[in-house]
Amino acid sequence: MGNIPFEIVQAFVLTLQAYAANPLAVITGGHAPMDFGRNFPDGRRILGKGKTWSGFIGGSLLASVAGIIIYISNLLLGSPMVLYGSGFASAFALVLVMGVSSLSGDAIGSFLKRRIGLESGANASLLDQLPFILFMLLIITVFFTQFSMAVYGNLVGLFTVILITPPMHRAVNIIGFRMRGKDVPW
Ligand code: CTP
Ligand code: MG
Repeated sequence: MGNIPFEIVQAFVLTLQAYAANPLAVITGGHAPMDFGRNFPDGRRILGKGKTWSGFIGGSLLASVAGIIIYISNLLLGSPMVLYGSGFASAFALVLVMGVSSLSGDAIGSFLKRRIGLESGANASLLDQLPFILFMLLIITVFFTQFSMAVYGNLVGLFTVILITPPMHRAVNIIGFRMRGKDVPW
């Protein structure tokens, strides 16, 4: 077991772009529903009006920008944190995949919410908060195994990102609500 406080901070900082993807999707979102307005065989929307391509694409790209800012800051500060691969291109690939997988997991959460009959925008603590981070962790572990093992493989990192997700998600949504980007504070 290494330096626990450092591992906690590292996991938090290197996962920030995955958390940022959701509020950033609110900024660009609202156009072109991802399910094209279609219903599932159960008669409810596949994903609902809250999941749009403009939010998915814009949120992923803005999250990548946030991730690259974090990456460059770490480089400039000579931070001891794990680097995203061997150079700028692999760093960009990693943060982009983090944003995309985070918002894909978010859409999976919506799919599950619709299947249990919840309306778009309804508050569903666990389904709002966990699928996006778990799906992101799965995809990053498959495609960026070395990075994932270094950051989340020591369990301290893994528990940090999972345990911090509910309060982070809540805080970010309250900020979004206050700024009136979001209709509801969850
Ligand atoms: N948003 C979007 N596209 C996405 C994700 C989010 O357009 N892929 C925008 C939508 O305007 C959405 C808002 O961000 O209403 C808030 O996102 P979120 O709370 O995740 O969605 P909900 O509206 O709560 O929908 P759901 O019940 O399906 O989670
Ligand atoms: Mg919501």
